[in-house]
Amino acid sequence: MSINRQVLTLDEFTLQQLRNFPSATGELSRLLRDIGLASKRVNVEVNKAGLVDILGDHGTTNIQGEEVKKMDIYANNQLIGVLKHGISCAGIGSEEMDEIEIFDDEISNQSKYVCLFDPLDGSSNIDVNVSIGTIFGIYKRVSPLGSPCTIEDFLQPGNRQVAAGYVIYGSSTMLVYATKRGVNGFTLDPQIGEFTLSHPDIKCPPTGRIYSVNHGNFFQYSEGVRNYINICQKKDKSNGGPYTQRYIGSMVADVHRNLIKGGIFTYPGTIDKPKGKLRLLYECNPFAFIVEVAGGKATNGKDRILDIQPTELHQRTPFFVGSVDMMAELETCLEIDK
Ligand code: AHG
Repeated sequence: MSINRQVLTLDEFTLQQLRNFPSATGELSRLLRDIGLASKRVNVEVNKAGLVDILGDHGTTNIQGEEVKKMDIYANNQLIGVLKHGISCAGIGSEEMDEIEIFDDEISNQSKYVCLFDPLDGSSNIDVNVSIGTIFGIYKRVSPLGSPCTIEDFLQPGNRQVAAGYVIYGSSTMLVYATKRGVNGFTLDPQIGEFTLSHPDIKCPPTGRIYSVNHGNFFQYSEGVRNYINICQKKDKSNGGPYTQRYIGSMVADVHRNLIKGGIFTYPGTIDKPKGKLRLLYECNPFAFIVEVAGGKATNGKDRILDIQPTELHQRTPFFVGSVDMMAELETCLEIDK
């Protein structure tokens, strides 16, 4: 096997970044490596999902009242395991758990970071072999080092994230993460079992032709959202179109595609669920951070997602994210709802 030494692995890349900051402790690099390790384990099981008796419902419901699949629990346990045994994380919050888990031990109490994650987003798609993903956001804790972390460490606005990322288990497996300095994507090389830098310095094109929305909810949306969807449908060559509607039902896959190709992803509130479905802390904040660093924009229809002060762990929010020019057109339409 010939090895291309021009290609950096995730570890090599994060260490190279570290060299630019001689005072850095390397804790964030280790945390990213830990998440990479957990996601490789999840990837192995996701790839076997059609073969082994891991498919199907676990028979319980999570705090959101949704059906929990076995793989959700497996992914959750893998992430907790690596982060608990690592030395960089003081505690975690997970979409699958009612409360935060505080790693109250001597080493974890000295750790700078806490992590919030959705261990397996789009898990209702596992049974039908559609891409799914893991989403995470990392925050520097506000509680004093040397003590157990607290709920305040987790209820920080998304603009305080030091890093955020996702793993997409798709036709290939990719880990994409952002710090304030840029967004980089790593594809898992199955031959060496390492994430390797494949998409350096990702930028979200300022405009695109893809809009992602659940059309089934059309008559549940506000007038502004319906107007925007109508505009998307009427686009033609004369005004930047035609547009294409793409909606997988797995946000990681939908936003990943739009990030690379340019586009807009929306999960608006509905008459039945004014706050929509997506969770601010586990899903929206990480993607808002990643897309903004890449040059795009993310709002709840009124305010910047990253400036929302969370009040509860599992809070939901309408979510609009994507290319800046498309977001601007959406915002004009949403004026009518204010
Ligand atoms: P789940 O993890 O329960 O499968 O939810 C997936 C999320 C998100 O990834 C996706 O964009 C959205 O829910 C799809 O919801 P709808 O089916 O309501 O459109």
